[in-house]
Amino acid sequence: MASLPRAAAFVAGAVGRTGPLTNNSASNPTAPVGNDFLPGPVLLLGAPGVGKGTQAQLLVTKYGIPQISTGDLLRGNIARGTELGLKAKEIMSAGLLVDDETVNQMVLHRLQEKDTHRGYILDGYPRTLDQAKFLDHTIVDPIFLPRLPVIAISIVVAYDQLLKRITGRRICPVCKHIYNICANPPNVAGVCDLDGASLTQRGDDTEPVFVERMKTFDAQTAPVVSHYRDQGRFDEAAGDQSVEAVNAAIEQAIVKLRRASR
Ligand code: AP5
Repeated sequence: MASLPRAAAFVAGAVGRTGPLTNNSASNPTAPVGNDFLPGPVLLLGAPGVGKGTQAQLLVTKYGIPQISTGDLLRGNIARGTELGLKAKEIMSAGLLVDDETVNQMVLHRLQEKDTHRGYILDGYPRTLDQAKFLDHTIVDPIFLPRLPVIAISIVVAYDQLLKRITGRRICPVCKHIYNICANPPNVAGVCDLDGASLTQRGDDTEPVFVERMKTFDAQTAPVVSHYRDQGRFDEAAGDQSVEAVNAAIEQAIVKLRRASR
């Protein structure tokens, strides 16, 4: 696993890479990216309901890299009735966080799959300072590609909007497409446009659990924002716009941050 000196160099953005990120000029951060653009690890940060999952799905399509959602991985364990799932179910229903060690090991395992070699979208991880430090130190190990540091984008939405989004969210259990009964409803109520499956609602998408999730976010995840901001690998996107407008802002931030942190 990674040693501390390498990690320190990495945090400073000093880790080299084997080829050019893109054939576009680095001096023009708004120039469109070519097919050879290497997005690397991209972290979407933000409170419950800001749109991390929605935006992650769009970035997966755009860049052809996987989404790594610790929430989805945990819910998968709950659905399969694993030991981890049984433990996580209670914690998630209370709006608290699963312990760092468990989540770190889950991510470590996922990062070893081959589909991450050009990058990945981190959705909901890291969400504590210890998780962020673990990730920074882990991915400098040469077994993990691409050898690029995490860039972080925080999506920001006002509290009252978040509650509406959370309670109105519906999800397709088959393709995982995310809907909202107000902002982004399916063509037929309760039915996925893409595969006809009956939409479901998450157990933690109630007002009382949302209140607890927000408290947890403020106490434990806000420091992660400072962690990446302090390293200059951070940007913010206003999330109170259309899904398309948020996506455009995030893509622009990805290009700018990646060109600045090779
Ligand atoms: P997780 O699944 O990660 O939940 P979360 O962080 O609370 O975020 P959400 O999935 O609720 O929201 P989102 O930002 O993805 O929004 P979405 O795109 O769906 O975690 C759940 C639990 O698992 C945690 O509480 C914890 O217990 C545990 N856990 C997970 N990771 C962990 C970790 N690393 N460590 C420890 N524990 C962990 O959008 C929401 C709604 O808004 C949708 O209906 C959508 O259609 C709508 N919407 C999206 N964008 C817009 C827009 N621009 N305009 C209008 N509506 C929009």
